[in-house]
Amino acid sequence: MTNGLDDVVAAETVLSDVDGLGGNLTIRGHSLPALAGHWNYPAVVALLFDGFFENLPADEELGARIGEARAEVFRRIEPVLPALSSLDVYGGMRAGMAILPDGESLDDALRLVAAPAVLTPALLRARRGEPAMAPDANLGHAADMLRMLTGAPASPALAKALDTYLVTVCDHGLNASTFATRVVASTQAGLTSSVLGGLGALKGPLHGGAPGPVIEMLDAIAAHGDAATWLRDQLSRGERIMGFGHRIYRVRDPRADVLKSVVRQLGRSGDGADRLVFAEMVEKTALEVLRVAKPSRSIQTNVEFYTALLLEAVGFPAEAFSCVFATGRVSGWVAHAREQQINGRLMRPQSRYVGSIPDKVA
Ligand code: COA
Repeated sequence: MTNGLDDVVAAETVLSDVDGLGGNLTIRGHSLPALAGHWNYPAVVALLFDGFFENLPADEELGARIGEARAEVFRRIEPVLPALSSLDVYGGMRAGMAILPDGESLDDALRLVAAPAVLTPALLRARRGEPAMAPDANLGHAADMLRMLTGAPASPALAKALDTYLVTVCDHGLNASTFATRVVASTQAGLTSSVLGGLGALKGPLHGGAPGPVIEMLDAIAAHGDAATWLRDQLSRGERIMGFGHRIYRVRDPRADVLKSVVRQLGRSGDGADRLVFAEMVEKTALEVLRVAKPSRSIQTNVEFYTALLLEAVGFPAEAFSCVFATGRVSGWVAHAREQQINGRLMRPQSRYVGSIPDKVA
């Protein structure tokens, strides 16, 4: 038995493949570096959805349909925003998505793709006491999300950086949240129910909840002044170093390099350069501390380390990082849910009973 399902193949998929030894991610026949920075997010949604929905429009029209879906989601959630705002940002997003219809059509799918991009800025603005901004269906998905956050048009550099992030995290094999999504879809529940399964799994710090703590770690190390001592103390307390380690990758996570180069580009055009130099020093130190502390296991930088820097640079607060992760990953969840609904069987593994045995009845 494996406590954590390592190496168990639980589904066949055409969507993505994670090569943990080579450090490669393939998404529907394209390597990550061929997509990230070259395809926009709606084009990647079209790629993931291909074959899973009737009458799927071409990339450009799909981009327009996602814009219309943002506007529709806003109309649905605006009346309940005050109630959603009483929760933390992730909880508010999850509750807002729960009120969407639970069907299996392309419209259902597009509302789910649109929803985190609408809910996240609206909830962040509510926390600042500012009214939510309505979506502009004519803008690109990432540009509109940033405009709804700040209230001003996003610079092309920031919009491109966020769009590249959304593409980079759109799908990643049978990670915990995608598995959770597929388990729900395997019961023939609808797409919203399935995506809510994924949202629940993504929240935890071992999965999509890691980038917020990465920022806390960088700030704590900056305040302490000695990265190696801080990191060694962290390990000696039995704590993990966030942004490092992965169940599948034994080499560097290829998404980390893509995101690092986006952060570097932004640093050239803005004032994030010092932050990047500091983060690179922390990364180098952490890899060395981990190599010494865990010599039998190759623990490398994962996607969350540079996610944290990128999302900070485009203007999101750490409390919303997991919501932005969900904004990218939701397209992968929806595609996996459809693949499971169409091709899969009910997922129903077994457990081994190790509890006490009932007394024999005389
Ligand atoms: N910091 C310190 N130790 C780590 C570590 C980290 N980031 N990642 C793994 N390890 C160590 C564990 O402590 C354990 O050591 P032990 O055998 O001496 O007890 C060993 O490596 C195996 O850990 P395990 O949890 O079984 O590995 P896993 O394959 O489940 O780990 C993660 C995957 C992602 C859960 C793990 O690397 C982690 O917790 N990383 C930090 C959180 C993070 O960045 N999450 C985002 C993932 S994309």
